[in-house]
Amino acid sequence: MANTPALAPDMTDRDLLVRLVFGSMAAQTVRAAVRLRVVELIGDTPRPAADVAADAGAEPQPMTRLLRALAGLGLLREHSFGTFAVAPAGVLLDPGRPGSLTSFVRMFTEPEIIRAWEHLDDSVRTGDVAFDAVFGTDFFSRLAQRPELSAEFNAAMSQATAEAAAVLPHAFDFGRYAAVTDVGGGDGTLLAAVLAAFPGLKGVVLDTSDGLAQAPGTLRRHGLADRCSLVAGDFFRSVPEGSDLYLMKSILHDWPDDRAVTILRHCRAALPSGGRVLILEPVLPETVPGGSGGVDEAATYLSDLNMLVNVGGRERTRTDFEDLCRAAGLSLLSATPLPGAEPFSLLEAAAAG
Ligand SMILES: C[S@@+](CC[C@H](N)C(=O)[O-])C[C@H]1O[C@@H](n2cnc3c(N)ncnc32)[C@H](O)[C@@H]1O
Repeated sequence: MANTPALAPDMTDRDLLVRLVFGSMAAQTVRAAVRLRVVELIGDTPRPAADVAADAGAEPQPMTRLLRALAGLGLLREHSFGTFAVAPAGVLLDPGRPGSLTSFVRMFTEPEIIRAWEHLDDSVRTGDVAFDAVFGTDFFSRLAQRPELSAEFNAAMSQATAEAAAVLPHAFDFGRYAAVTDVGGGDGTLLAAVLAAFPGLKGVVLDTSDGLAQAPGTLRRHGLADRCSLVAGDFFRSVPEGSDLYLMKSILHDWPDDRAVTILRHCRAALPSGGRVLILEPVLPETVPGGSGGVDEAATYLSDLNMLVNVGGRERTRTDFEDLCRAAGLSLLSATPLPGAEPFSLLEAAAAG
């Protein structure tokens, strides 16, 4: 079979399709690895699968098969027959290691999220949010009903935000401002990094009470409790006044345009002269730059569909962000990619002239 020109030279069209369809099995294999704690159980030196199985309370033969699949996926290595070591990417499945993505894995392979994906075709047909039809409530209300899932979501967001938190303080001069409100700031991971880098700055995290549940711990760990307050509220009603920066990461993409404009309008209403609204989101190119078959290249488009089925939001182009800002009385000044936190860009907006 001929190779599609855009594909890697050794990959056929058929290979690509098989690889994509097996993607959901790969995701569930990673989920099982996290649930059975295999990376922690293997540790720093190679271990026989039978020992890992005994510690995990699992059967040796199926465990060997799981570990082989994980080795095939590049997360483990079969060191010698039936004995496995953790590969560099597999280290991210150890919750005790810096940069761990275990909560992220659990959340994005979570049956409730996957159930909405089963109805992607319905959402495409109707434009309706599949999650709401399946569960009879919206995603964030569902989290409020299930505190343990909400805590997992907050932890997953914190892990997903770690890269942006590391680079944002170097990408914008927060030192020219007095106070920043992180709108929908969750457990405070992003704001803590900004406040740690700019000792003269004060901060506010606005979120729902469920979204803020882990934030006191974050502030305590960073020694920021005296410079940062937590406000439980609803950004569809208002945002707290008193900051000259309103920051929001991964907020607008959760909502359809009219709701996103409402959030921005509230920021505009609170914005003093010279203040700024900072938006951290991926910015889609105006047209798709010819995919070469990798899930990584399609990640923002898959996230866009995830927003469609689970929350009713969407990923946006620069033109889309300009339109949202204009409708909210803001003017988009710039959109700058954030190296080290791809695919995120930093969008800066000010009150429209
Ligand atoms: C996708 S998460 C992003 C969290 C954080 N900004 C980050 O990037 O890690 C969306 C956040 O919006 C919060 N949220 C949802 N509805 C809200 C509302 N009506 N008012 C305030 N926060 C809300 C959620 O609790 C959650 O923390």
